[in-house]
Amino acid sequence: MDFQLSEDQRLVRDTARAFAEEQVRPLAAKIDAEARFPTETMGKLAELGFLGIFAPPEYGGAGLDYLSYTLVVEEISRVCAATGVIVSAHNSLACFPLMQFGTEQQKERFLLPLAKGEALGAFALTEPEAGSDAASQKTVAVDDGDAFVLNGSKIFITNATVAKVFLVFCLTDPPAGVRGITCLIVERDAPGFSIGKKEETLGIRGSGACSLHFDSVRVPKDQVLGEPNRGFRVAMTTLDAGRIGIAAQAVGIIQAALDESVRYSKERKQFGKSISSFQALQWMIADTSTELAAARWLTYRAAALKDAGEAYTLEAAQAKLFASEMATRAAHRAMQIHGGYGYTREFVVERLYRDARITEIYEGTSEIQRLVIASQVLK
Ligand code: CAA
Repeated sequence: MDFQLSEDQRLVRDTARAFAEEQVRPLAAKIDAEARFPTETMGKLAELGFLGIFAPPEYGGAGLDYLSYTLVVEEISRVCAATGVIVSAHNSLACFPLMQFGTEQQKERFLLPLAKGEALGAFALTEPEAGSDAASQKTVAVDDGDAFVLNGSKIFITNATVAKVFLVFCLTDPPAGVRGITCLIVERDAPGFSIGKKEETLGIRGSGACSLHFDSVRVPKDQVLGEPNRGFRVAMTTLDAGRIGIAAQAVGIIQAALDESVRYSKERKQFGKSISSFQALQWMIADTSTELAAARWLTYRAAALKDAGEAYTLEAAQAKLFASEMATRAAHRAMQIHGGYGYTREFVVERLYRDARITEIYEGTSEIQRLVIASQVLK
């Protein structure tokens, strides 16, 4: 067992940390306040290879391992969880399934520009009636010779304001239910495809989440990702990997909550001394620090298993469940330590508190993670 990051992984982490401090932090409060996608950051992320972190170099990627991706998402999320999820969704929900299920021609045409960071990708599974029950798709694609004709809507799609490539799940054989779902690669400029309203969210307000609408969109059959009617497997395999990214985002938020708590509790004086000298606060900081360590190691373990080519469905769900619940708890404590100031927009903890909450919801709620964990433990 090795608890050390390799030299390369440490270099990636340090590069991501410096980038996050210099380029991401200055925009974090602004994109949150304006609910604006940080378009200006995308070119810089691409230059560092952070939009194709684990994609192979022959498809434009940086060819790093999944643990390195985890480190990048953690470091970026530490300063801006919205930018963190943009990077996470693009890498693990768009590049990864194209790597895993794409044909050679699909990799050349779609993965390459995504991994080079010339375009962003999005993953479109969720619908108004298909949240936790992801198989309950209403979006339908009808076979029409050399193409499928797609009709329906999606909601809460991260990166949608700017993404060029969308992986869209739909029913191609409605009576077959979960075995009648297909994943289609849809381009932003496909006739009949429109981006709907931007979601007004509590946190991660810069993540570009929108609804999508498909009005008789013709999608050529060579844009089926994986096999027709086997799309649910594509979705589940992708989410197993994606959940490690959300766990990493949550770890970044916990670290930020701890950083802010330590700094403020040392500076703030009440009753004639720093509030960090009070045991009540020391215990809060001790608990956050311990939960951070546990969340981080669960997350790195899941990533390391994936890198080793081993099964990781269980470990990814455990990491996502634990890290996300600890992020909410850490942000709650950080706000408590800041008192009334923490409840204002002047202090970072107010944003952390709002951003943390979604990590318990997207890419599978905590209840779905428990369901996945139990089904793995009891099988
Ligand atoms: N890997 C591969 N295949 C899997 C799998 C996995 N981890 N889990 C299930 N499958 C396969 C099963 O083997 C089965 O295949 P067969 O039909 O060939 O036997 C098929 O999928 C159906 O499996 P289940 O009967 O278990 O499926 P279910 O309908 O009961 O659903 C679920 C299972 C775990 C609840 C699933 O619906 C789920 O994960 N729900 C949560 C959805 C979710 O996470 N949504 C997130 C949206 S994306 C997002 O949030 C992105 C963002 O904004 C950042």
